Amino acid sequence: MEITKTVTITVITILLLCIIPINGDDSSTKTLVKYTRSGKKLCDKGWECKGYSIYCCNLTISDYFQVYQFENLFSKRNTPIAHAVGFWDYHSFITAAAIYQPLGFGTSGNKTVQMMEVAAFLGHVGAKTSCGYGVATGGPLAWGLCYNHEMSPSQNYCDDYYKLTYPCSPGADYYGRGAIPIYWNYNYGAVGESLKIDLLSHPEYIEQNATLAFEAAIWRWMTPIKKSQPSAHDAFVGNWKPSKNDTLEKRVPGFGITMNILYGDGVCGQGDVDQMNTIISHYQYYLDLLGVGRERAGPHETLSCAEQKSFNPITKTASS
Ligand SMILES: *[C@@H]1O[C@H](CO)[C@@H](O)[C@H](O)[C@H]1NC(C)=O
Ligand SMILES: *[C@@H]1O[C@H](CO)[C@@H](O)[C@H](O)[C@H]1NC(C)=O
Ligand SMILES: *[C@@H]1O[C@H](CO)[C@@H](O)[C@H](O)[C@H]1NC(C)=O
Ligand SMILES: *[C@@H]1O[C@H](CO)[C@@H](O)[C@H](O)[C@H]1NC(C)=O
Repeated sequence: MEITKTVTITVITILLLCIIPINGDDSSTKTLVKYTRSGKKLCDKGWECKGYSIYCCNLTISDYFQVYQFENLFSKRNTPIAHAVGFWDYHSFITAAAIYQPLGFGTSGNKTVQMMEVAAFLGHVGAKTSCGYGVATGGPLAWGLCYNHEMSPSQNYCDDYYKLTYPCSPGADYYGRGAIPIYWNYNYGAVGESLKIDLLSHPEYIEQNATLAFEAAIWRWMTPIKKSQPSAHDAFVGNWKPSKNDTLEKRVPGFGITMNILYGDGVCGQGDVDQMNTIISHYQYYLDLLGVGRERAGPHETLSCAEQKSFNPITKTASS
């Protein structure tokens, strides 16, 4: 009898040990692992990194970027004078990011590179949604996510050239909305197409739903403007190798090139202009707050795009 009991307890203990998740710090996420025929390791970490991907074997964003860090980066967004009080939160960011983590967003490379990508993406977001340039408390960089839409649009941003592909809806305005603001019918149309949401009829959804606003911004970060060009993500994490032409035109991997991709000559190739420096400053500020340190961002040539020729000189880009 005694022996049977011991054996039973041992068996139960072994079984229990097998169920304990591999990353023991968060018992709600179990890492499922499988291998491809060629021996490549693929993982699935549940809601945050789903669908067996090489990227999901690495840390996920919530492993190194938590609520208190989000609060630190965007500390002024809910003060009474901000313009989107109560709108933006950590939960909507991490929910939106979950779609793109299996594709490498915030999950590429080692922990430092991962944190740098989140800082870079949020650097764009912070700069584009800041209202820190008249209100000084906390410094101008503490005011990211102050807006969720353009305050005094001068037009409705309807370009009739796209009336067959992305026709404007009667009464709809395509002014800047979101985390990396979207302007123009054709940009709302393109984002809506990929997210499978009718943003041409309902551009206002972007300023009503923070998860959607972050999804649209991360989609922009992860998707090339043109097939022949890298996404901001690929250019930043080092998946993109510059061609001879790129090198000639001073386009090198790093943070600077992400501004080139997202804004073109609205920001780049203009020398040391404020519009560019503001974005760089937000990135550096976030690197410091996350404990990575701004010195990791590398030399000025990679951080800036002051001397870069634009990828798309005349085209209006998603965030022009
Ligand atoms: C996962 O992390 C390791 C080191 O931390 C890194 O070398 C590897 O490139 C990462 N995997 C992917 C797919 O980026
Ligand atoms: C992480 O990867 C980057 C780029 O490959 C490298 O420069 C850095 O030294 C690595 N950091 C650590 C802690 O391994
Ligand atoms: C906000 O958008 C997300 C992502 O598209 C969606 O899952 C969610 O249901 C939306 N929330 C509301 C209240 O409509
Ligand atoms: C190199 O850049 C020039 C000017 O931007 C362009 O006209 C040319 O087609 C490019 N060449 C290649 C091979 O991409």
